[in-house]
Amino acid sequence: MLIPNNSPSLLPWEDNDPSPQWSEVFGNNNPLALEIGCGVGDFVVQMAALHPELNFIALDFYNKGCIKTCKRVDKSGLTNVRVLRAEARSFIEACIRPGSLRTVIINCPDPWPKLRHRKRRLVNTGFVSYLSGFMESGANFYFATDFDDYGVDVADFMVEQAGFSNVLAPDRYRHTLEGYPISKYMRRFLDEGKQIYYVHYKKQPAAN
Ligand SMILES: C[S@@+](CC[C@H](N)C(=O)[O-])C[C@H]1O[C@@H](n2cnc3c(N)ncnc32)[C@H](O)[C@@H]1O
Repeated sequence: MLIPNNSPSLLPWEDNDPSPQWSEVFGNNNPLALEIGCGVGDFVVQMAALHPELNFIALDFYNKGCIKTCKRVDKSGLTNVRVLRAEARSFIEACIRPGSLRTVIINCPDPWPKLRHRKRRLVNTGFVSYLSGFMESGANFYFATDFDDYGVDVADFMVEQAGFSNVLAPDRYRHTLEGYPISKYMRRFLDEGKQIYYVHYKKQPAAN
C-alpha cells in the first residue's frame, strides 16, 4: 500500500490524467527542467536553488523517494520544484510538450550490472533520441553515473548521437563537473572511493 503524501510540493498525477498546465502549476512561464529518477531529492533542491530561473520537475516512480523529496523541497522553501510519482516515459509522453524542456538530468540510474540485464538500462541511444524530441534547441542533457561501464557506454554513444554537441569536448566525460551538485548516490560512491562519470551535451538547433 502507498504511504499517503500530502505535501504541497507533490503534483498528483496518474497515467491517463491530462497534462498539468505548467505555467499554472509554477505561476510563471519559466522553462522546464526535468530530473528523471530524483531518488530522495537532495540533488534537485541544490540544483533548483542554483537555478531559480528554471522550473524543476522531480520525477521518480519510487513512492518513498517522492515523499523524502517532497520533505526536502518543503523544508527548503523553494517554489520552483514539483515532485511527481510516475514512470518517465509515460509521464513525458502525456505531460511534456515537444521541444519544451530546457534541461534533462539523469543521475545514477540503476546500473543493471549483469551483462544479460544491460538492455534494461534506462539510458541508451534510443532513449536519448526519444528525449531529444521533447527538448528545446540548446537544451542541456546531463548524465552522471558511478558505474564505469555505464559511464563509458553513454559517453561513447553520445559522440555519435545525432543532433547533440558535446559541452565537455574534447573530453567524452569528466570526473568532476563544476556547478553540478552531488546526489545521494554520487556521495555514497565518492565516499567508497569510486569516480563519477559526468556527460554533458546540448541539443543542437535543427538544420533548416
Ligand atoms: C539508483 S537511484 C538514484 C537516485 C538519485 N538520482 C541519486 O543519484 O541519488 C535510481 C532512481 O531512479 C528511479 N527510476 C528508475 N527508472 C525510472 C523510470 N523509468 N521512471 C522514473 N523513475 C525511475 C528509481 O526509482 C530510483 O529512485
